Amino acid sequence: MLDTAVILLAVALLLLVVGAIQPVAARVRLPPTVLLAGFGIVIGAASSLLPRGMLHGAEGFFTSLPISSETIIYVFLPLLVFEAGITSDVRRILEDAAPILLLAIVATLVTTAAIGLALWPLAGLPLVVCLLLGAVVATTDPAAVIAIFRDVGAPARLTRLVEGEALLNDAAAIALFVVLLGMITAGHDPDVFAGSREFTLSFFGGAIVGFVAGRILLVSIGWLGGDRLAEASLTVALAYLAFIVGERVFHVSGVVTVLAAGMTVSALGRARISPYNWAFLGDLWEQIAFWARSLVFVLASILVPRLLADMDWHDVVLCAVLIGAAFAARLFVLFGLLPPLSYFKLTQPINTAYKLAIAWGGLRGALTLALALAVSENRALDPSIRHFVAVLATGLVLFTLLVSGTTLRPVIRVLGLNRLNPRDRMLRDQVLALAYEEVCEAVRDTAKQYSLSDRAVRETVNPYQTWIREAGARDIEAAELTGRTRLGTALLALANQERALVLEAWSQRTVAAGAVQMLLRNADALIEGTRSDGRLGYGRSAEAALSFRFGFRVAYFLYRRFGLARFLADRLGQRFEVLLFSGLLITELIGFTGRRLHPIFGAKVAALARQILKSRLDATTAAVEALRNQYPDHAAALETQFLRHSAARREMGRYQALFEEGLIAREIYDDLRRSVDEARQGDHRPRFDLGLDTGELIGRLDLLSGLDADQLARVRRLLRPQFTVPNERILRAGDRADAVYFIASGAVEVRLPGAQRIQLGTGAFFGEMALLTNQPRRADVVALTFCRLLVLSRADFEKFMADNPEARAEINHVAQARLEMNRRGLATATEG
Ligand code: CMP
Repeated sequence: MLDTAVILLAVALLLLVVGAIQPVAARVRLPPTVLLAGFGIVIGAASSLLPRGMLHGAEGFFTSLPISSETIIYVFLPLLVFEAGITSDVRRILEDAAPILLLAIVATLVTTAAIGLALWPLAGLPLVVCLLLGAVVATTDPAAVIAIFRDVGAPARLTRLVEGEALLNDAAAIALFVVLLGMITAGHDPDVFAGSREFTLSFFGGAIVGFVAGRILLVSIGWLGGDRLAEASLTVALAYLAFIVGERVFHVSGVVTVLAAGMTVSALGRARISPYNWAFLGDLWEQIAFWARSLVFVLASILVPRLLADMDWHDVVLCAVLIGAAFAARLFVLFGLLPPLSYFKLTQPINTAYKLAIAWGGLRGALTLALALAVSENRALDPSIRHFVAVLATGLVLFTLLVSGTTLRPVIRVLGLNRLNPRDRMLRDQVLALAYEEVCEAVRDTAKQYSLSDRAVRETVNPYQTWIREAGARDIEAAELTGRTRLGTALLALANQERALVLEAWSQRTVAAGAVQMLLRNADALIEGTRSDGRLGYGRSAEAALSFRFGFRVAYFLYRRFGLARFLADRLGQRFEVLLFSGLLITELIGFTGRRLHPIFGAKVAALARQILKSRLDATTAAVEALRNQYPDHAAALETQFLRHSAARREMGRYQALFEEGLIAREIYDDLRRSVDEARQGDHRPRFDLGLDTGELIGRLDLLSGLDADQLARVRRLLRPQFTVPNERILRAGDRADAVYFIASGAVEVRLPGAQRIQLGTGAFFGEMALLTNQPRRADVVALTFCRLLVLSRADFEKFMADNPEARAEINHVAQARLEMNRRGLATATEG
């Protein structure tokens, strides 16, 4: 039995080594996992080779740490998987969801099947055991490939594809692993049908449970008052809770549950957790996962020498077959499955060099080792199965680490992936130039502030300026340097700046959480659009940002279909806020173009960029005005709130300065801060009100202004409010009449056959002709703005007309005049 001190010492030593390995790995440019595995193997070898007692205790404490398969599964797996989820860029992954899901699931199945079938004839074990091994090694660790892709500036979308695929691939492989393990321990033969059903339930069920768990966490975080320690603790709790609840309560894959929970937090959390706390969360999880991964690596590789010692020739042959099958499966996925996907435009085509790099970089990592360890310690399994899985999985991990891992960089070089293409180089140059320009400006400001000598400024600034000049000259020489590329680069810089501004606004709490998410999505779309399609892409994304989104349409459908106005009001309120804020952002960007883009891209490009921004601003302003016209009070409330937040920020900044200068005591400072905080807490975004109160709307209709209280009360019961969005068709020519519409606010256009158009505004009514003449509708009527209408149904029309003689006279009169007008119009049309 080891005493506590020895265990602690072992943990401390492990952490020492794990920490020291990082800088060494960076120096020798190898993935750190390679060195960690090497270290573990050395320890393992030393403790099994050296005579007992020589390392007195040393061999004991590493090899007999109280770590069992249970520990690994329950302690490390949720942490590793949750971290992968929470640090992933879910919104980006969702954009490529189809190919990623397909690749991940199909790739896992293909790999598992290929490996299982290749080993089955040789292994002397049941097929299901060979498949289990396949699932264990089907997870890939993309860290090494991605690190290198980032270094060589591979297309971001490709990196994301690899990242996303690996993420879901892990989840799929583990879900499959659990299903197969269940079959083996229950003594079943593999049943493809039952197996796939169980796998599907377990995978997608886990995804749903995880999504719900993540949402619950985010709601609970709202109650914590922004305490980062509390928030972080909740996320760690979530990782374990999601796992246990998924496995034990819902009987779905715990790993998938954890992953989905992590991804949910990642997707929706940024807008709910303050940026400062979010950064803290990211750091914390990076640290946790680093420890978990390192410990798994070392602990598993300590066992390697013992496993290798048990290996016989048969195992060596199997291992070789395994390696071959694993690579073949990977190549098949990349060269067999990807091309159809890109043919159907589900992914960007990936060139052969990248595919080869992905195949060669398919390292197996901590997850494979964790699963192999879990199998090797599972007492319910036959020793021969445990030996088989542990030896072969470890063999493959070692091979990929020691052979692929160490040669990945040279392979990348041979494939020619390490050279930036001219366009990317120019992009990099210009981004750097932008940054250097800012540095120079800051240096000059500092010098001015402290009255430092011009000479010092010159000497500091000169190297940057020289670099900028040289890069400029180099780029002008570049053949690709067309005006269009330059404009594209400038727009990309603008889109990036927009994103940064949104995040800044969020950190200062000038915009609400939901709106931030939309604004970020818009900025991301601009970046992505510009990357792939330059100016056109930018324009397309900018246009899409103004359109009514899917969420809006769903809310509108719910309103029209089921009369649920709440969601629609929320959506409109959010749209209002997003548009208002976009306008501010674009104005700021126009300033940025003058200050920053001009010096780098030259007058012509800057002028073009400014023009593009101007027309974006016009479109945005028009969209804001459309709302403001109908809802001036809400617009004023939003603007007031924006100003109030800026004022509160100033106020806070002032207090902080006074406190830091020692002019006010800490208690006073705290007290002031609390008062600002409290004022802000109570200051919620004004709730958007569609303004569909029938009584209030009736008041806007001149036609009904002469009614007495009794008549009004009766009319009120007959009329039903309806809201429309711009460009919505309210009536269609040729339809049967079902109602008359009164415009309480907004404007519509009557589109008569023969291209004649008549606009009707607040107070007017339409749809009466078909009812009065008992004929089909004579024209289309389309909303020009957001409108609030009052609808009088066909059934109530008679009652209304009988009860209100004055209104009846007016309606008849107008209808008569319109009929007359149309007849004359038609006559002119035929005469013409
Ligand atoms: P209806 O024919 O029921 O449906 C189309 C509506 O357009 C029609 O009733 C009128 O309310 C309106 N409309 C048709 N012609 C004119 C016109 N010349 N001026 C204004 N409104 C019109």
